[in-house]
Amino acid sequence: MTDKVKELVSKCLQARDMAYCPYSRFPVGAAILTADGAIITGCNVENASYGLTVCAERTAIQRAVVEGHRQFTAIAVTCDIKDRFVGPCGACRQVLMEFGSDWIVYLTKPDGSYKETSLSELLPLAFSPAHLEKN
Ligand code: THU
Repeated sequence: MTDKVKELVSKCLQARDMAYCPYSRFPVGAAILTADGAIITGCNVENASYGLTVCAERTAIQRAVVEGHRQFTAIAVTCDIKDRFVGPCGACRQVLMEFGSDWIVYLTKPDGSYKETSLSELLPLAFSPAHLEKN
């Protein structure tokens, strides 16, 4: 594992500890690697009006955009499930796709082990901004 991937994985684990999830008690952490090497983290933030909950991945994307980043290379995601690798929800896959299909995705277990996959693999035949271009 390269130092950058090690850092990304470790930061998504740290972000999970910040999750605000009093309703589901299902903490999730995400860490995004930008094209210029910055790492931006997110955790899920729930709400008493359940549907207003924001997933960890989307929290991270929104923070990243506010901080001026629009080019990304990878995301690491983790939750508390120890015995299998868990992928981002469908909505978050679509939100990542907004910023390109070239994401590496590290599905990370609580012990820091991970499975490397990609957004194209997780969201095949995706709808993307390119489809809105006029013919
Ligand atoms: N959650 C995420 O943060 N990311 C996902 O990709 C899946 C689900 C959160 C939302 C909610 O706070 C909790 O996990 C249970 O669904």
